[in-house]
Amino acid sequence: MLGLKLPTDPRWVNIVEKNIEEILTDHAFCEQKATSTAISLIVSFPEYTELVQEMTALVKEEMSHFKMVHDKIIERGWTLGRDRKDEYVIQLLKFFPKGGSRTDQLVHRLLYAALIEARSCERFRLLSEELKDKELAEFYRRLMVSEANHYTMFLGYARKYGNREEVDKKWQDLLDYEAKIMKDLGTKETIHG
Ligand SMILES: [Fe+2]
Ligand SMILES: [Fe+2]
Repeated sequence: MLGLKLPTDPRWVNIVEKNIEEILTDHAFCEQKATSTAISLIVSFPEYTELVQEMTALVKEEMSHFKMVHDKIIERGWTLGRDRKDEYVIQLLKFFPKGGSRTDQLVHRLLYAALIEARSCERFRLLSEELKDKELAEFYRRLMVSEANHYTMFLGYARKYGNREEVDKKWQDLLDYEAKIMKDLGTKETIHG
């Protein structure tokens, strides 16, 4: 599914279930970061008109997801906690060398975004299937549906703006690298933990 090379161990859901407040806070900040990434792509690559239009729409959508999660936190009588470090993303962003041409930089950022979307979507699917809390499972099912095309959108733009063959090779290499990172994860009550 989603091209990912290592599926998440479903036992990760058992860890999540013990601390729903924690996963919701972490998740809210994932939506905030998705919003920030879209804004940052607009700032860095303003001449890519189609991408700017798409990112403008995405900012709205991701921020509305943030609100959905924040509403859920309030509904359950909690308060949004502080943002946590995302070890997964920190590790992932080390893959491509810094520098290179402007196109390379754009392609690398789009591929990172595609992969983070794909993994998040996989985690949402797992939550939607395995959570005993049926109300929350349904919440994640609906979110998964609206997240599902973000990964293909980012990958599509990487292929459109970069050299197709090079991009496909980079994508496969990034997927291999991500699978290695994932081997040590699946142990925390965070979306990518
Ligand atoms: Fe989202
Ligand atoms: Fe997304």
